[in-house]
Amino acid sequence: MSAQIIDGKKISDEIREEIRRETAALKERGVQPGLAVVLVGEDPASQVYVRNKAKACEDLGFYSEVHRLPAETSQSELLGMIDRLNRQGNINGILVQLPLPKHIEEKAVIDAISVEKDVDGFHPVSVGNLMIGDDSLLPCTPAGVIELLKRTGQSPSGKHAVVIGRSNIVGKPVSMLLLRENATVTMTHSRTPDLPKVARQADILVVAVGVAKLVKRDWVKPGAVVIDVGMNRLPDGKLCGDVDFGDAAEAAGWITPVPGGVGPMTITMLMSNTLKAAKRANG
Ligand code: GUN
Repeated sequence: MSAQIIDGKKISDEIREEIRRETAALKERGVQPGLAVVLVGEDPASQVYVRNKAKACEDLGFYSEVHRLPAETSQSELLGMIDRLNRQGNINGILVQLPLPKHIEEKAVIDAISVEKDVDGFHPVSVGNLMIGDDSLLPCTPAGVIELLKRTGQSPSGKHAVVIGRSNIVGKPVSMLLLRENATVTMTHSRTPDLPKVARQADILVVAVGVAKLVKRDWVKPGAVVIDVGMNRLPDGKLCGDVDFGDAAEAAGWITPVPGGVGPMTITMLMSNTLKAAKRANG
């Protein structure tokens, strides 16, 4: 293997230390960042995510509330809770854990969250602000990808970035952020002809498709930076990314592992957004 590993856990710890320091300074002024997490139903993976978010809040000195609602909760009950949290002064960020039960319309819920408290960056106004370059709260995983690149000394400026996957949560926003960082961006997806050939043109290759081990060594330009956003569960229970790590690492210059790459950055960027929202709310 020739590639250097991008250690997401280490970079995430560095950022958390910065957040911890800033939070302590804010507390001197009587301000404590507050995050509300809402979970509807009993999805096991969601329960783990929610627990980790609450733990991160405790670790960094944030105030947090976790609202666990039964799966039968109606849409109007959930909207009522969001309305209360929108008006609650000690809450700076609201996160409704997705996916929601089928009888609840996701869009109605996301639209109801106050833009100032939209720490997921999923609200249409946050998405619009990202498009036009305004200083909005950025979606956590895409923001984490950019931080990984910058803190590894791999600035996207002037590079050719190829993004595989066009989801609203990762592919589209990470493409916009790379563009904002002055990369030349190619967005690709399942209908892109000869995907390996396009991927091979990338100085920075970001993969977020949800197909285990899709990207092989011959998809990677020698020396390229490979960022794997995938999180797939193999039949043996192990986690693996969208990149065949051992194979692609033979060609890449830098590569993120799964787990331990992009994953640890997501909650850290959520905390960073909550801190930012708290600073804005308190001048
Ligand atoms: N479920 C899985 N990932 C996420 C996320 O980033 N935000 C929310 N709200 N739900 C999720």
